[in-house]
Amino acid sequence: MGSNRWWSRETIAVVTGSNKGLGLAIARGLAMEGVTTILTARDELRGWETVDSLKQDERIDPSLIHFHRLDVTSASSIQEFARWIKTKFGGLDILVNNAGISGATPGALTNLENSKAVIDTNYLAVRKLTESLISLMRPSSHGARIVNVSSGTSRLDALQNQALAHKISNIDELSMEAIDEIVKEYLEDVEHGRVIEKGWSRMFGAYDYCFSKIALNAYTRVLARDLSKLPEGHKIFANCMCPGVTSTAMSRNNGHSAEVGADTAIWLALRPAIESSSGRFFSKRNDVGFDRIPFYIEKVVYTSDLEDFMECMRKQERTRKSWREKTK
Ligand SMILES: NC(=O)c1ccc[n+]([C@@H]2O[C@H](COP(=O)([O-])OP(=O)(O)OC[C@H]3O[C@@H](n4cnc5c(N)ncnc54)[C@H](OP(=O)(O)O)[C@@H]3O)[C@@H](O)[C@H]2O)c1
Repeated sequence: MGSNRWWSRETIAVVTGSNKGLGLAIARGLAMEGVTTILTARDELRGWETVDSLKQDERIDPSLIHFHRLDVTSASSIQEFARWIKTKFGGLDILVNNAGISGATPGALTNLENSKAVIDTNYLAVRKLTESLISLMRPSSHGARIVNVSSGTSRLDALQNQALAHKISNIDELSMEAIDEIVKEYLEDVEHGRVIEKGWSRMFGAYDYCFSKIALNAYTRVLARDLSKLPEGHKIFANCMCPGVTSTAMSRNNGHSAEVGADTAIWLALRPAIESSSGRFFSKRNDVGFDRIPFYIEKVVYTSDLEDFMECMRKQERTRKSWREKTK
């Protein structure tokens, strides 16, 4: 990224859920580029252990690494974190919303408690944290950046319910209130056992995960649209990305390395303003849109679990086709 380098050690980046997996790889990558990087984790001990190991990495200047506890689902933790950032650094330039849970419910559709937990972490927490930090994002000619780690499972063509797909992708009319309404509708459908009937997405058998990332994407688009009204010198770019199938605890160690998965998030965080777009979805450094996000895996490194995943994808595609035939 050398020649387009606009950042320095004065540039402050925050990465949520960075004690392991993709968050750690994103934080490591930013620090290796010379950005002051704040790792965060809900578990203080796990967080400090990660920081200690990063500081041993010869490719990184240890003075660039900082840590603060942050449970993204806790209002008081967010508040305390925002206060700390303001006092210690005066603000931030890059926010990577990475923390997430899969909420997988093997063998079962889902249940209200699970749905709420997944939506709280993967969507609502991003919204609340972003809202708390946005006023601390520092104005500059380079623009500040919000990178939301989403997933290919949010692709809109996997939503069998076309009316919902239209509503959520109609960006001109979409508002935060409309997204809240859609979340409410989803939770009511879970409560009343209507998720199949209503045609919600179920890639990899994970209704809640798919929905939480669809809501996250919709939020990012509305946010980007609102932020686009900011004047020059105060720009904030907000985008989503998919790391592809990445070998972490969440994927049960299927997929490419966390370094490969982290690449697009780091690239988006450090892209020069002149090349930056906002409110878009990226995979493998490409703007791929929200409708048919490609399934990305760099190198097939998998256990038998991935074959199950692939079979789920094929099954999903068949169901989608027959559902469309029926509702023509
Ligand atoms: N791996 C993939 O194939 C893949 C594909 C597409 C998208 N993603 C997305 O990539 C992101 C990172 O996932 P990963 O694969 O790296 O999974 P991971 O290894 O399970 O890491 C998830 C991270 O999020 C943290 N986290 C969860 N809930 C939190 C909370 N309430 N507050 C703060 N931190 C919290 C976890 O902390 P603990 O250690 O305390 O649990 C952990 O650090 C997620 O948003 C995921 O949806 C992953």
